[in-house]
Amino acid sequence: MKHFAPILVPIIIGGITGASAQVDVPPNFGIEVKWQIEIQSTLDNNSALTPTDALVWDLDLYHVSRHPEVIGYLRDNIEGVNIICYFNAGLVQDSDCDWDDWQRPEFIGLLGNYYENDPETGERWVNIRNQTGIDRIKRRVRLAAQLGCDGVDPDNIDGYTIDEGGENGTGFNLSDDDYVNFVTQLAQEAHSLTTNRSFTLLIGQKNAAELVERLEPNLDFAVLEDCKNLREEADRAFCADFQPYIANEKPVFSIEYPSSLRDPAAPQQCRATGADEAQFEASCANDTTPDGPLGNYRFSEILKLRDEADESTELNGCTQYCDREVVVTAINSELDGDECTATGVESFGLKGRFWKLFSA
Ligand SMILES: *[C@@H]1O[C@H](CO)[C@@H](O)[C@H](O)[C@H]1NC(C)=O
Ligand SMILES: *[C@@H]1O[C@H](CO)[C@@H](O)[C@H](O)[C@H]1NC(C)=O
Ligand SMILES: *[C@@H]1O[C@H](CO)[C@@H](O)[C@H](O)[C@H]1NC(C)=O
Ligand SMILES: *[C@@H]1O[C@H](CO)[C@@H](O)[C@H](O)[C@H]1NC(C)=O
Ligand SMILES: *[C@@H]1O[C@H](CO)[C@@H](O)[C@H](O)[C@H]1NC(C)=O
Repeated sequence: MKHFAPILVPIIIGGITGASAQVDVPPNFGIEVKWQIEIQSTLDNNSALTPTDALVWDLDLYHVSRHPEVIGYLRDNIEGVNIICYFNAGLVQDSDCDWDDWQRPEFIGLLGNYYENDPETGERWVNIRNQTGIDRIKRRVRLAAQLGCDGVDPDNIDGYTIDEGGENGTGFNLSDDDYVNFVTQLAQEAHSLTTNRSFTLLIGQKNAAELVERLEPNLDFAVLEDCKNLREEADRAFCADFQPYIANEKPVFSIEYPSSLRDPAAPQQCRATGADEAQFEASCANDTTPDGPLGNYRFSEILKLRDEADESTELNGCTQYCDREVVVTAINSELDGDECTATGVESFGLKGRFWKLFSA
C-alpha cells in the first residue's frame, strides 16, 4: 500500500509550499489491524510470545535499543509483523539512553520544567522551538530505523496545552504552531529513511487532537489514549477528530484504560476475566458509520492498564481485546537495567556503547 504525504517545507521558496514524498507502507499496516502496545518493560524473549495474531506492535525505542533481539523475536514469531518504536519526543527522561548527552553544558538550556513540575518524574520538557532541540530529537527517529523498527510513535507533542494563557508549563512558552513545525520535521526525517525491510519509516500522531488537520497529511497513523473520555482526568471526547486518518486509509490505534481490568487481589496484574461488563461495553462500543456518535469508526481498539498513582504497571503486558480475549504479553523488567546498546548519540565511543550495535 502506498499513500502520498505532502511534506510542508518550513521555508517557502518561490511560492512552492510543499513537495510530495511517496510513503511506501508495509503489508499488514491497514486500518482495523490488531495491535499490541507494551512500553513498560522489555519483552521477555525467553517466554512464548502472545498474542501472535497482533500484526502491529508498539514498543519503547530504548527498550529495543537495549535489547535489539526483541525485533527478531517478534519477526520470528509473527510473519509480517510491523514494529513501531515509541519514544518521548516532547520530553527527555532519565531512562532514555541519550539522557547523559542532554546534560552537557551546551544542551542543558534546551531542557525546561519537569513533567507536572515534579522532579521525581525524571522527565523534562524539551525546547522544540529551538532547531538544535528538534535536531536532537530527530536522532531518535534515525535510531529507530537503525534498530529495524518499521515506524515511530513520538509521544508528548501537546506541551502547548500547558503553556496556553501564559501558564509556562514547559518553561518555553511553546505554541501549537511550534509543535506542528516540530512533528512535521520529524515526519520529513522519518519519510527520508528506508527501513530494514525496505519500506518507508512510518510516523504517527499521538493524541493532540487540535493538530489533526495540520499533521494528518504528513503522518501515517495515530495512537490515541482515552479518546472516549471515560477516565476522570481527561476533559472531552476527541475520537471523531481523528476520522481524517481513517478516511485516508491510515490506522488509528486507540487505547482505553478501564480501571476494572486490574486484578483487585494483585494490583500489578490483569484480571483474568477482563474489565467488568459496564466498563468493557463502554470501552469497546464502536461506531458503524464514519459520522457515528462516538467518532471511533474502524479504530483498532485495545484495553490496557493505567494508574497515575503507580506507573509501574502502566502499559504493561496486560491486555484485553474487544472480542473479550484477555492476554498477558510476557515482559521482563529485570532486563531493563542493562547498558544501552545504542544511545542514538551519533558519535562513536560515547561510553563505548554505540559501536556495540554494529559489533553485536
Ligand atoms: C533473549 O535475549 C538475550 C539477550 O538479552 C539472549 O541472551 C537470549 O539468548 C535470548 N533468548 C532467546 C530464547 O532467544
Ligand atoms: C538553541 O539552543 C542552542 C543550544 O542550547 C543554543 O546555542 C542556541 O542559541 C539556541 N537558539 C536559539 C535561537 O535560541
Ligand atoms: C518560564 O519558566 C522558565 C523555567 O522555569 C523560567 O526560566 C522563565 O522565566 C518562565 N517565563 C515566564 C515568562 O514566566
Ligand atoms: C508566549 O507566546 C505567545 C505566542 O505564541 C506570545 O503572544 C506571548 O507574548 C508569549 N508570552 C511570553 C510571556 O513570552
Ligand atoms: C534487519 O535487522 C535485523 C535485526 O536487527 C537483522 O538481523 C537483519 O540482518 C537486518 N536486515 C537488514 C537487511 O539490514
